[in-house]
Amino acid sequence: MKHIISPSILAADFANLGAEIEKINNSQAEWIHLDIMDGVFVPNISFGFPVIKHIKKHAKKTLDAHLMIVNPDNYIERFAEEGIEYLTVHYEACTHLHRTLQKIRSCGMKAGVAINPHTPVSLLSEIVAESDLILIMSVNPGFSGQKFIPNTYSKVAQTKELLQQKNANAIIEVDGGIDLTNAHRLYELGANALVAGNTIFMSNDLINTIYQLKCE
Ligand code: DX5
Ligand code: ZN
Repeated sequence: MKHIISPSILAADFANLGAEIEKINNSQAEWIHLDIMDGVFVPNISFGFPVIKHIKKHAKKTLDAHLMIVNPDNYIERFAEEGIEYLTVHYEACTHLHRTLQKIRSCGMKAGVAINPHTPVSLLSEIVAESDLILIMSVNPGFSGQKFIPNTYSKVAQTKELLQQKNANAIIEVDGGIDLTNAHRLYELGANALVAGNTIFMSNDLINTIYQLKCE
């Protein structure tokens, strides 16, 4: 599988969102990462459907939405209507995760599960076969610009092992504090997709930074 880059819009200039998306459209990034926060599951509020609608109008890339919200089931159809392709919910926010993932798939989207830094990979063993994507958080969710947690390396390796054991082929995505010092090793350990906010949007040469983060 090739290396996927998913720039996180959370770190973009929201007053110039159209121009920021146009830059991503012209880059080698495959996806655009949308961080949806409700102020309950995480101590921050980001943006919702009105903004997603405008992003969708401009974006020529796959939309990868990361829901950091409680009760995500209530909004699954709505995300499908807005044109989201990968919809990721948090393991920690779903009491009936199996049902939630099935609902995401039945709405025509790919279903992802995210785990916080404290959540062991082993807890995913009965759900990987139902998942199209496993998102390993490499920071505590809520904000962009945080420092990468090194324990993530071992979690990525464990996830790859678990997928092999279960004969499952979900995409392994890593999110938080990704930069040129950790991208290569994460891909080597089995990551397929890397999310980056600050590293991409604070860069003077966004196109080249994305190219470098792909490590291809
Ligand atoms: C954190 C978000 C991340 C974040 C990544 O809660 O899920 O997607 O925006 O931003 P950086 O790359 O700046 O850590
Ligand atoms: Zn995210």
